[in-house]
Amino acid sequence: MNIIKTSNSSLESVDFSNLLFGTVFSDHMLSCNFIDGKWQKPEILPYGPISFNPGLQVLHYGQSVFEGMKAFKNKDNEVLLFRKEENFKRLNKSAIRLSIPEIPEDIFMQGLNDLISLDQNWCKLGKDYSLYIRPFIFASSECIKASSSNEFKFMIITSPTSTYYNQDLNLFVEEKYTRAVKGGVGFAKAAGNYAASFYPTKIANSKGFQQVIWTDSSKHQFIEECGTMNVWFRIEDKLITPSISDTILSGITRDSIITLARESGIEVEEKDISILELLDAYKNDKLIEVFGTGTAVAVSPVKSITYRNHKMSFCDISDSFAVILKEKLQSIQRGEVMDKYGWTSKVI
Ligand SMILES: Cc1ncc(COP(=O)(O)O)c(C=O)c1O
Repeated sequence: MNIIKTSNSSLESVDFSNLLFGTVFSDHMLSCNFIDGKWQKPEILPYGPISFNPGLQVLHYGQSVFEGMKAFKNKDNEVLLFRKEENFKRLNKSAIRLSIPEIPEDIFMQGLNDLISLDQNWCKLGKDYSLYIRPFIFASSECIKASSSNEFKFMIITSPTSTYYNQDLNLFVEEKYTRAVKGGVGFAKAAGNYAASFYPTKIANSKGFQQVIWTDSSKHQFIEECGTMNVWFRIEDKLITPSISDTILSGITRDSIITLARESGIEVEEKDISILELLDAYKNDKLIEVFGTGTAVAVSPVKSITYRNHKMSFCDISDSFAVILKEKLQSIQRGEVMDKYGWTSKVI
């Protein structure tokens, strides 16, 4: 791997006690081009501007996919990556759907390791800290014909982070706009999915909600996700989460929580759940708690859900599944307990 190190690290100038998610970037980045039908040799460079002409294809047609993953420091000051194989697989699943050439495993894994190893001091030790990792691929031909690009760029950038949502999460059930449709790209981490979600989210924000609950595109009756998280409902002592389909992103945190919940003796059901079923459970005092899961937040409790003129509110409870499962997940991620599922791997 060709590595050009920065001569001007910005690490010392970062206030780690006041990190705004996604706004601070580590010193280096990985870059690899797809030219002449194949992925070329990757390189690591100082983090900085990349130049392109206005005809860059991704700017016009959004042919781009990305991933979100994290690294954590254990008490021995080693950096642990969490379930990197899953992010690798999902990136390529997204790439195939967007007609982007798949990334070879060695480019992804070696690039990831070398980059994180170089910037390991950006991953701080401490309960609230982690290093957010953003691999992404975009169409890089200079061409404005509405067709798949011939050239692509794969990059990895990283960003130190602390706790993500520290505000209450009040959700609004969205019945007009849709995140994903059957046969579409909802299961992929396609850039355009997020672009399309900003306007409905902005409307929800203006009404005092932090995020929306996405419902199915045909009848808006079934719950799919909340914001950029998978969503969970505790009805009595059972956890329910919508089943994976082509309109739902198959969350790696979701998959981990299913395993950890079952291991803890909590019954988990993956099924289609309607908003009316939820409302009925709430009215009968059976809907105990709601939470979202995702890499950025791990597990995030929901304070309220508003559906038309019904508001369902949830109080903090002592045996919260969200709290128990978050603790279990994070203690594995930080290497504090035995990793019996082999989810973590050391950066060397
Ligand atoms: C739409 C959407 N759903 C769910 C998730 C959670 O996925 P993961 O747990 O793999 O981060 C994410 C975040 O990546 C997302 O963007």
